[in-house]
Amino acid sequence: MSPSLVPEPVLPSPQSILDDIHARFQLGYYYHSSDQIALTSLTQVFVKEFAQGLEKYGEDMAMVPTYVTGVPDGSETGTFLSLDLGGTNLRVCQVTLLGNKSSTSSLNDIHTLSPSPSNRGGEFELRQQKYKVSETLKGGEASVLFDYLADSVDAFLTMHPPESPSPEMHLSASETEIGHGSAAIPLGLTFSFPVSQTSLDSGEILTWTKGFSAKNAIGKDVVRLLQDAFDRKHIHVKCVALVNDTVGALLSRAYTSGGCILGAIFGTGTNGAYVEKISRIPKLQEQRQAQGKGASRGKQEEEGEYMVVNTEWGAFNNSRTHLPTTPYDATLDRTSINPRFQAFEKFISGMYLGELTRIVLVSLIDAFPYSSSNAVLFKGKVTPTLNTQWGLDTSVLSEIEVAWAEGVGGRAEVVLEHDNPVPNWESLTALQASHISSDANTQDKRLLTRLERVRQVVVSKLGYEDGDVGLRDAAILRWASHLIARRAALLSGVAVAAVLVQTGRAGYIADSHSHINNEYPKDEKIGVGVDGSLIQFYPHFETHMRSSLRTVVGREVEERVVIGLAKDGSGVGAALCALQALKQGVV
Ligand code: BGC
Repeated sequence: MSPSLVPEPVLPSPQSILDDIHARFQLGYYYHSSDQIALTSLTQVFVKEFAQGLEKYGEDMAMVPTYVTGVPDGSETGTFLSLDLGGTNLRVCQVTLLGNKSSTSSLNDIHTLSPSPSNRGGEFELRQQKYKVSETLKGGEASVLFDYLADSVDAFLTMHPPESPSPEMHLSASETEIGHGSAAIPLGLTFSFPVSQTSLDSGEILTWTKGFSAKNAIGKDVVRLLQDAFDRKHIHVKCVALVNDTVGALLSRAYTSGGCILGAIFGTGTNGAYVEKISRIPKLQEQRQAQGKGASRGKQEEEGEYMVVNTEWGAFNNSRTHLPTTPYDATLDRTSINPRFQAFEKFISGMYLGELTRIVLVSLIDAFPYSSSNAVLFKGKVTPTLNTQWGLDTSVLSEIEVAWAEGVGGRAEVVLEHDNPVPNWESLTALQASHISSDANTQDKRLLTRLERVRQVVVSKLGYEDGDVGLRDAAILRWASHLIARRAALLSGVAVAAVLVQTGRAGYIADSHSHINNEYPKDEKIGVGVDGSLIQFYPHFETHMRSSLRTVVGREVEERVVIGLAKDGSGVGAALCALQALKQGVV
C-alpha cells in the first residue's frame, strides 16, 4: 500500500466531546425528559426507599430509629462534653446550654415537638479543640483509633479543665464503673457513620463511609469501643449518649430557632434526620413485640408520638436503578474503597465532587493523548495533582467559582447564570488567541478578566506551569466545576423534597392528585437545620438546591422552607442528648 493510501484517523471534534459530557450531567438525559420529570421521579423513588427502610432492618437506606423522641425548645440548660468524629476533623467540645433568657426552667423536657421556627431560641457557649485524624488511623485497628479519641478528650480536659462544673456535668462515683473515689464527666458522642442504634447510648457500627475503614469495628457497639478506651487509660469520662451529626443539626437548630423538622448535612458526606411519627416506623413496633415490650398505644403515648429517624440517605439507590450515573461516576465508584455503597453520597458530597471533576478533566486530557496540537485541555499534559486519586480537592472548585464571580457584579450576577452553557470551542479558541486590545468591547474585556482570574487559580492549585494553561482551559474548568456542583445541589434538593413529601408537608407539583396532609397549617414555616462545607461555602449551592425543591414541590411550599445553619450542631446536639440521657436515667 502506498503511503498516500493509509487512511487518516477520524477524530471526534473537541466540541462534540464537550457536548457529550454536558448532556450526560443533565438529569433529564437519563430520563429522556425534562429536569422536572427527572427530579420528580427521583423524589418518588426516594420516598419509596424511605418506606422500605422504615419497614425492615437491613435495607440500603437504613432509616435508623434514634430513640430521640422529640426536639428541644430552647429552654434546656447544663454543661456537657462532646466528642465529634465523622467529618474532616475530630472535635472535642465543652458546651454550655444557657437556655432562653426568658425561660425560668432548667433541664426542661426534650419531648416537645415544636415544628415551626420562632424567635425564642436557646443560647449556648462552646469551647472546642480540633484534632487531625490521619489516614493511618482511618484505616488501622479500631482500638488504636478509639485510643486516639480518648487521648484527645484527655488533652482537651488538660487544656481546659472544667472550671465550675454544673451539677449535671459530673456523675457520682457510684454511677460509674471507673470512678476511684472521683466522679466521671458525662460525654455525648457524635458519631457520623451508619450505626444501628439500639438505645440512646448504644449502637452497632453498620459500615464505614467517607474514607474510613478501621478494622474490627463493624458490628461492634461504638459507645463500648469508646468507653473501653477511656477505661484502659483511666480517663474519668463516661459516654452517656450517641448521636449522628444530622440528629445534632436537627436538635441544635430546634434549640436555637425554636423549631425544626429536618437536620441535613451537605459536607464531606451527606445525610438527613427528620421527625417521624412512631406509628409510621413498623420495624420499631415489630422489634418491641419481639423483645416482649409490646407496641401498645399506651406505650407510644408514654414515650411520645414522634421519634427522630436518621435516614442515612447517602445510601439512597445503591442499586443505581435511577441515579443518573455517567461513566465518570462509575469510575469514581469502582476505584473507591466502598464500591456499590453510598451511591447518592458519591453524587453529592464534598469528599467526591473534586475527585469526580478530576476524572472528567483527565478524560479530556486523554481524549487526544500525547498530541499537544489537538489537545482539548492543558496541551494534553497532566500534573501530579491531576494524576493522583483524590488529588483535586472540592474546595478548588469552590475557589474557581469565587474567582469567576469576583469583581464583576459579584454574587448576584452569577446567581442568575443558571444555564452554564457548554463552552463554545471555536469562540474560546479565538478569544484565547486574541489580546485585550484597546478597541475590544467592554463585554469581551470583562470576560477576559474573569477567565484570567480563574486561570490563575488553576495554575496555582493544579500545579501547572503558567504557559500550559490558557483562557480556554480556564473556561472549561469553570464549566466542569459548575456542571458537577449544580447536579449535586439539584440532587440535594430531591432529598429535602422527599422528607417534605414523606411527612405530608408537600405533594408533587407535577401530580395534582398527590396528597398533602392537612394536619399542618397552610402557612406553617418548615424549619430545616443544615451544616457542612458545601452548603456553607460552595457558591450558590443553596440556590440550586432550592430551585430543585421548587421544581418538585412547587414555589408555595418551597418559600415556606426556612433553611438555617445548625451552628455547631454536632456539639450542641450531643450535649442535648447527654442531657436527655441523664434525665432518662441512662447512667
Ligand atoms: C454518614 C452519615 C453522616 C454523613 C454526614 C455519611 O457518610 O454515613 O452517618 O451523617 O456522612 O456526615
